[in-house]
Amino acid sequence: MEVVIVQDAAAGGELIAGSIADLLRRKPDALIGVATGSTPLPIYQALSSLVGSGALDASEARVAQLDEYVGLPQGHPESYRSVVLREVVEPLGLKESSFLGPDGSAEDVAEACEAYDRALWQAGGVDLQLLGIGTDGHIGFNEPCSSLASRTRIKTLTEQTRVDNARFFGGDVDQVPRHVITQGIGTILEARHLVLLATGEGKADAVAQTVEGPLAALVPASALQLHQHATVVVDEAAASKLKLADYFRATYAAKPDWQGL
Ligand code: PGA
Repeated sequence: MEVVIVQDAAAGGELIAGSIADLLRRKPDALIGVATGSTPLPIYQALSSLVGSGALDASEARVAQLDEYVGLPQGHPESYRSVVLREVVEPLGLKESSFLGPDGSAEDVAEACEAYDRALWQAGGVDLQLLGIGTDGHIGFNEPCSSLASRTRIKTLTEQTRVDNARFFGGDVDQVPRHVITQGIGTILEARHLVLLATGEGKADAVAQTVEGPLAALVPASALQLHQHATVVVDEAAASKLKLADYFRATYAAKPDWQGL
């Protein structure tokens, strides 16, 4: 995988937004897999600026959710569908009809998971999948010891993840759902390009294990080692535990511009 160390979260957001913009200029209806949480927000802000300034027309782009809480009422402001509508679909002027996501309020959750996996396939697959990383090394909501071959399915959140996400629910961990639907690791690995952004010191251990540790279900993000086009963008704080940081810096500095991310 390629590791790109940037100064801060804003620089990471701009770099990744630039890569998405390049993709959309080549393929206007590209399917972008979007992640939620705090980390990707600078990407969406940078993309909105590009659209607002007229430098990018994203109106044909399609987006697909990575994961969703189970059991929140439809329209709940913290459902990931609502978050993606608010942070991505509306600011970028995308058509709501071009937005794919799993149905977290379905009565038959197993069927909803299978239907979503199929829908991604029928849509031609994800061109670029954005990822965050949990402090426990999860991608999507694939918690430690998730099968590296897993498909979209229901998962139970770890206590750590529910504590991490309580800030979106007024600080009350009891309000954070226990169950989620998440694209599986096998599903995620089918995207043509994976781009993981990690910022802040709290992610430094998970990043080091992902990039330099062994491939292990215990650190689900380490599955990126299996992908032929995976890019990990980290700020200085999240890179602080990488042994090969100097090598990664030198490699990126010497990279030909035409290669992009
Ligand atoms: P965060 O979440 O960006 O809010 O830290 C990351 C994740 O859980 O994937």
